[in-house]
Amino acid sequence: MSKKKTAAIVLAAGMGTRMKSDLPKVMHPIGGRPMINHLLATLDKIHVDETVVVVGPDMAQLEAAVAPRKTAVQFDRAGTGDAVRVGMEALGPFKGNVLILYGDTPLIREQTLNAMLEAREAQPGQLSPTVVVLGFEPDDPGVYGRLVLDDEDGELMAIVEANDATPEQREISLCNSGVMCFDGELLPQFLSRLSDDNAKGEYYLTDCVGFAREDGFRCVVVDGDEEELIGVNSRVELAQAEVIFQDAMRDKMMKGGASLIDPSTVYFSFDTKIGRDVLIEPNVQFGLGVKIADRVHIKGFCHIEGAIIASGAIVGPFARLRPGTNLGEDAKIGNFVEIKNADVEQGAKVSHLSYIGDARVGADANIGAGTITCNYDGFLKHKTDIGAGAFIGSNTALVAPVNVGAGAIVGAGSTLTQDVGANDIVTTRAELKSAPGAAERFRDRKRAEKEQRQKEKPKKD
Ligand code: UD1
Ligand code: MG
Repeated sequence: MSKKKTAAIVLAAGMGTRMKSDLPKVMHPIGGRPMINHLLATLDKIHVDETVVVVGPDMAQLEAAVAPRKTAVQFDRAGTGDAVRVGMEALGPFKGNVLILYGDTPLIREQTLNAMLEAREAQPGQLSPTVVVLGFEPDDPGVYGRLVLDDEDGELMAIVEANDATPEQREISLCNSGVMCFDGELLPQFLSRLSDDNAKGEYYLTDCVGFAREDGFRCVVVDGDEEELIGVNSRVELAQAEVIFQDAMRDKMMKGGASLIDPSTVYFSFDTKIGRDVLIEPNVQFGLGVKIADRVHIKGFCHIEGAIIASGAIVGPFARLRPGTNLGEDAKIGNFVEIKNADVEQGAKVSHLSYIGDARVGADANIGAGTITCNYDGFLKHKTDIGAGAFIGSNTALVAPVNVGAGAIVGAGSTLTQDVGANDIVTTRAELKSAPGAAERFRDRKRAEKEQRQKEKPKKD
């Protein structure tokens, strides 16, 4: 970790026209979280002392998403140099490292930023570098700024934007990722010297490298990896970033002791927590707020969000767990079951085709196929409480609010509109009426009717 204090300026003033969206670009989610918040979480991990996010005008939603961090509004999109100037004004005089990041480059890793901060520390016998630039070698250097190195000492001499580069400079494969770290005391005077006399008519932050060299300061390059430096400018790039993020999450889960039979078909949210010896079958999606304890088995094709699952539980295949689901130890949720805002306690089973919402299912209770908690009366939601060890027969409708006592047995096909006492047996089905032998008489009559109709049909010639 760096010994110096560190501030971060995150550039996020661009609306991202290529996203074709009403949402500021950096608010688009990856793994269920706005991309700007991924970056801010990484900055928290490296213990940045202060952060300023440079936003565009009318981006209240973005300002709320980054709160309580400072924001500064850049009114004219006059280039990265201008954006940093706006950020520095909000930051005020700062002695230490000033990291510059882009809000639309959200997957940069903690280790990479730490390597940049370390590069700013003085090595024995040398002045500490004033500017550290994160460089990378993309497959296609295209529009990236090129890093021009000194042939003798390998240090950075200048960054030349692609549009302003000579054909020889365009051949350089080492490019500017945009992430930079400056000496905070010297940065303001470099920024004050910027001009917009260039191909784009913008204030280029990258020109600060040339000024630092002119003044006799050192500028160095730290190497980054193309995957973590992916910039998101379009929905296609957003999807590419999501793939990179999901692959990283799958690796993390497997390293943490979960088995994924077909990792590429399992999708996580940024906050998914999974224990050890958890088995996840193919085609499972975890929405926000899922916590899974040890030895849980999630069978194929489940959709799980806002659920807490205790150890040993079995879920699926084809189960849907919605927010507020709490599964106790060894609980079992089977196919085509939907659970919402409900506690299914230890050892309870809801094995087939059921809806359990706004409910408690007591320990070891057994819920038969097709059971529905009728929790909504068209205006309000009501609670169903099923006691421990109760048995709810198949195709039962529990019209909430309703309580079933512990150990009670509810006969199949019941519609419960009143409470059931503990250990009672109840049925609400209609009496069976029987007409012995009537089926044969019915068939004889129908056969005769059919023959009669066929005789009466006009014959074709
Ligand atoms: C910039 C770098 C280039 C580098 C590339 C990496 C400069 C002059 N060029 O070019 O060397 O290879 O990034 O992706 O710095 N932004 C603002 N306000 C502005 C302008 C930009 O907030 O006035 C933000 C954008 O929202 C974006 C970031 O800064 O997040 C980069 O801006 P962009 O216009 O994409 O810079 P490039 O031309 O790609
Ligand atoms: Mg760009």
